[in-house]
Amino acid sequence: MFYFGVDYYPEQWPEECWEVDARLMQEANINLVRLAEFAWSMMEPVEGKFDFEWLDHVVAILASNDIKVVLGTPTASPPAWLMAKDKSLFRVDENGRRLTYGNRREYCPNNPLYHKHSKEIVSQMAQHYQGHPTVIGWQIDNEFGDRCYCDTCRRAFQAWLLERYGYIEALNERWGTTFWSHTYSNWTEIPVPLKTGGPPNPGLALDFYRFASDSYVSYQELQLETIRETCPNHFVTHNLMGFQYPYLNYFDLSCDLDFVSWDVYCRTQWNIETEMDPSWFALGHDTMRGMKASNFWVMEQQSGAAGWDLIGVSPQPGELRKWAYQSIAHGADAIIFFRWRTARFGTEQYWHGILDHHGRPGRRYKEIQQMGDEIRRVGQFIHGSKINSQIAFLLSYDSRFSFEIQGNNPGFEYSTHFHSLYRAFYNKHISIDIVSPTSDLSSYKIVIAPALHIVSEEITKNLENYVREGGVLVITPRSGVKDLFNAVVDIPLPGLLADICGIEIKEYISLPKHSENEIKINWGEFPEATLKVGVWCDVLKTKGAKVLANYLQDFFSSEPAISLNKYGYGKAIYVGTMGQSRLNEMIARLLLEETGIEPYLRIPKGIEVSERWLEDRRIMILLNHTEIDQKIIIDGNFVDLLHDSLPIEETLIIPPQDVVILQEE
Ligand code: GAL
Repeated sequence: MFYFGVDYYPEQWPEECWEVDARLMQEANINLVRLAEFAWSMMEPVEGKFDFEWLDHVVAILASNDIKVVLGTPTASPPAWLMAKDKSLFRVDENGRRLTYGNRREYCPNNPLYHKHSKEIVSQMAQHYQGHPTVIGWQIDNEFGDRCYCDTCRRAFQAWLLERYGYIEALNERWGTTFWSHTYSNWTEIPVPLKTGGPPNPGLALDFYRFASDSYVSYQELQLETIRETCPNHFVTHNLMGFQYPYLNYFDLSCDLDFVSWDVYCRTQWNIETEMDPSWFALGHDTMRGMKASNFWVMEQQSGAAGWDLIGVSPQPGELRKWAYQSIAHGADAIIFFRWRTARFGTEQYWHGILDHHGRPGRRYKEIQQMGDEIRRVGQFIHGSKINSQIAFLLSYDSRFSFEIQGNNPGFEYSTHFHSLYRAFYNKHISIDIVSPTSDLSSYKIVIAPALHIVSEEITKNLENYVREGGVLVITPRSGVKDLFNAVVDIPLPGLLADICGIEIKEYISLPKHSENEIKINWGEFPEATLKVGVWCDVLKTKGAKVLANYLQDFFSSEPAISLNKYGYGKAIYVGTMGQSRLNEMIARLLLEETGIEPYLRIPKGIEVSERWLEDRRIMILLNHTEIDQKIIIDGNFVDLLHDSLPIEETLIIPPQDVVILQEE
């Protein structure tokens, strides 16, 4: 079943509105509603007194309109009576400041009293809705995140370290605590890396970031167990924040969920100035699909202009629908719009829902209604269909945490570097998986490891096996620099990856902002023989590898910059510098040529295309991100699923912001 839904906060409107809302939802082909995720104080108005009557009433109204329900556990926004109990319930930020009441996500994820109350409300909800015919699953909390640096967390961190290292001597050795005389003789002496302490020991900081991530995984587990025990037939998920959220290891967080869901906001008040680049959202979707190597839900799909204090740009006619189809194109099996009605009160008064403040259907309602009608017809052909990729990108949260601690170069940022390589392949109209560095890579023709900073023996073996068996691996600067403890390796860079790459880095140069070098390329047919590069230059010394490019400037002029090493049946390419997108485009083009990966279609820029496979039946989803009609030449027998399943001619015109779904006959 393809669910097409909305996030609904009935508690924010008088009861008289509920019937009208549910009817309008049904008329818009909505078949699922997420409820209750911020309604703790309605469900437990005073400690220990639970009230589900109002919620039962809403659920019953929705049920009578053929709408199913996902319940959100309300722990992201605790009631005032709970937070008034003890100040230790509040999170402490990296500057050592304790948060105060009035927003949300202000709780400490390790606080035992918070755990007790969370368990209680979740278990009351689970018992109440166990076996309910309308409730099908749960979302735990809302967008976990934000590290806590309080005393409770400090003690929990010390216990976490004891578990990890066993002996204080082992910790001292791994962190190199003789530096600045930081040797610890007791676990209780170990601090949390508050900003006020200045730049921390990198080993301590990385472990703290891992611990902080684990804290949310454990807190989620506490809720998961409660729900699973009571409602074994319900699914459990959490709404994540895509590729760009850097503070949690989403692979770990997703591990025990039934499936991943996430929140997709393309135009917000925070990116008003930035040009819309659909590849960022494509990367978000692919990352979310990669967390469990399976399809995901969009739990919050933008439904209007976003805004808290400032109001973001209104989505153009057709954009909401197009973004929702982009989610589907990358593996979404359910779309739930945030939110049904625009709130009249509260911080998010200007975060627009499908309906405006007055609650009457308008342009956005009609657009969603149209899409709902389409999904009713075509959802069965899409739901559960798979995306098969021949290319994988390795996402390393350890490396990302490590770069957060030490950025290496002011012009370098892990996410941007990752995205810029991703975009080069995305622009070639092929599908891409995002996977962990320890996952099975054997099905991929190309694997890209952007700045894989922290490398273990396990990762090294995985990459070696992959290349030995015929894979093509691309590694970029600052890879293999650190061990699992965030210490720099004591062998030539790229450390454990040097062997597979057939090179050693003679020396590296961190370039000042705006400073450039140039490389001369000696790889395949490349129209521009030279390219500008910047940010970073690794000067390579080949040890069996072939040179693909040399530097042209500075004291290392003529030295190798890019190399290719044959290793077993495969190849490892080391790209020792970073550049503008031209460098990444070159890498993408040449690698696709070498590996024989063909784009789905030869299509104009600004059109996005993706493939989903239902067994051996191919579906292609085409999105026009431009402001003009786009002409596409189609090769093969397809029908147009959105437009009465008519066979399509050789040439297809896609109007601006429009979507076409083709099914191969
Ligand atoms: C999401 C969050 C929602 C809502 C929305 C708009 O990140 O999950 O609860 O706040 O943003 O700000």
